[in-house]
Amino acid sequence: MAGSDQTKKSFKLRSQRWFDDPEDPGMTALYVERFLNFGMTRGELQSGKPIIGIAQTGSDIAPCNRHHLALADRIKAGIRDAGGIPLEFPIHPIQETGKRPTAALDRNLAYLSLVEVLHGYPIDGVVLTTGCDKTTPACLMGAATVNIPAIVFSGGPMLDGHYGGRLTGSGTIVWEARKMLAEGKLDYNGFMELVASSSTSVGHCNTMGTALSMNSLAEALGMSLPGCAAIPGPYRERGQMAHATGMRIVQMVQENLRPSDIMTRQAFENAIVAASALGASTNCPPHIIAIARHMGVELKIEDWDRLGHDIPLLVDCQPAGRFLGEAFHRAGGVPAVMRELLFAGKIHGDVLTVTGRTMAANVEALPEPDREVIRAYTTPLRAHAGFAILSGNIFDSAVMKISVIDEKFRQRFLSNPPGVFEGKVVVFEGPEDYHDRIEDPSLGIDERTVLVIRNSGPVGYPGSAEVVNMQPPAALIKAGIDSLPTMGDGRQSGTSASPSILNVSPESVVGGGLALLKSGDPIRIDLNTRKADVLIPAEELAARRAAWKKPDLPNKTPWEEIQRSMVGQLGTGGCLEPATAYLNILEKRGE
Ligand code: FES
Ligand code: MG
Repeated sequence: MAGSDQTKKSFKLRSQRWFDDPEDPGMTALYVERFLNFGMTRGELQSGKPIIGIAQTGSDIAPCNRHHLALADRIKAGIRDAGGIPLEFPIHPIQETGKRPTAALDRNLAYLSLVEVLHGYPIDGVVLTTGCDKTTPACLMGAATVNIPAIVFSGGPMLDGHYGGRLTGSGTIVWEARKMLAEGKLDYNGFMELVASSSTSVGHCNTMGTALSMNSLAEALGMSLPGCAAIPGPYRERGQMAHATGMRIVQMVQENLRPSDIMTRQAFENAIVAASALGASTNCPPHIIAIARHMGVELKIEDWDRLGHDIPLLVDCQPAGRFLGEAFHRAGGVPAVMRELLFAGKIHGDVLTVTGRTMAANVEALPEPDREVIRAYTTPLRAHAGFAILSGNIFDSAVMKISVIDEKFRQRFLSNPPGVFEGKVVVFEGPEDYHDRIEDPSLGIDERTVLVIRNSGPVGYPGSAEVVNMQPPAALIKAGIDSLPTMGDGRQSGTSASPSILNVSPESVVGGGLALLKSGDPIRIDLNTRKADVLIPAEELAARRAAWKKPDLPNKTPWEEIQRSMVGQLGTGGCLEPATAYLNILEKRGE
């Protein structure tokens, strides 16, 4: 290494390697001078105060996070008040509902962009502004790889939506409104109005979709200040939390408190347990596994079933329950859930958090939550509410969200014998094929059909599409069958209440068994044994495999090609595989 021990000692903060290196005045002058051009002074930059980055995810094309542009002022005030110097910078925007072909393609791109900024610029610690679905995992993955002091600042959910005297939740109302449109209960304008009623204010989705789930799990991991995740975007507490977060990151730099001190194996286990209690999104397993892998923590998809399945549902939030973000926040938010899990002995209380204290110390003195929204562990909304992880003769792993299986679905599809469904598959080649053919009566879709969608995974789509929660044909919906079992190598929106079998890994285009299915094949799904098998002879499957040809996948952008060449499967986090080898990269440079 170039620097001797003496050089190392003379540098308290890594930013001073840029701004105050007496051994290299030429480079120091170069680094300092350009920061002066907007009014910074040499005195500030050479003061030895921590330089705190603010990773800005908000922009006009990322409306779920857009209010971070204003909230950054309060973060900066907090940083200044605690004796730090803020530098705000953008990372690649991700907007879940607006990006084609899919926002999931961009999680790994935003991750890469954040790693490059944190690694290559004079930043001692970072505030990660999170919100919309993939912004949270992208930020945490980047912070994990670089491993500099980092803290999550969530944007918070939108205010609750209302329409016709009832609550309307982001995304969840879209699935419902689509069925009403198909049934002829709504016209186009009525449909648009009903959906718009859920978009009330600045903030991200107000249901326990992927955004609120992932921000809640960031807090459960110990990466944000207690209570941060659920404060609605427009509430005054949101600005106050921004200030407190800005202050705290400066102290974290002074304490050298890093992601690796917080995001330990135990912390990830806590996140899995919390996900069940929250009724969290099916997108959480791949995101949490990806963060763990970039942190160097081995977390397997099976851990979700082993650690999470038996945990009950405590939070009464849509889509698994009734309420939305405001009620969840007022009831006590994530700290109340962690307190409940701590007292039930289900989480590790001794893990360190960004407060510098343990999770137990953060939550154990809290008052009882509002029991209408956050239940006691002993009187939950639903027992055994975690994910089931399935495998079988056509895939290694798939995720099923048990907390959204309602009584009607259980009775209709999973009662005879209990937990088992046998039927025939109808296979679609992707979302476009599904939309083209779903109303075709010759497919013979009935109550014993499993709708299967393939070519929708991280390589196939690419990024992996949120398409598995396919709606039955309109005629079936009108006849009262408003959902069917579905299966696919894509994902589904965290706001969907559909008990689909999704994230099937490996996906079809890399040779996964879904590629071998033909419409009409019989299938048996057994939730008791966690098995999903196509009931055709092994020789027939082998013959189909021998005849299978890898499809030609045209790329529309350079990034699509790069992602496709490096991305892994959803069961292992959908990471850029070569990137997972870069652990703790600053330590290797002695920083
Ligand atoms: Fe951005 Fe749901 S679409 S948070
Ligand atoms: Mg989504």
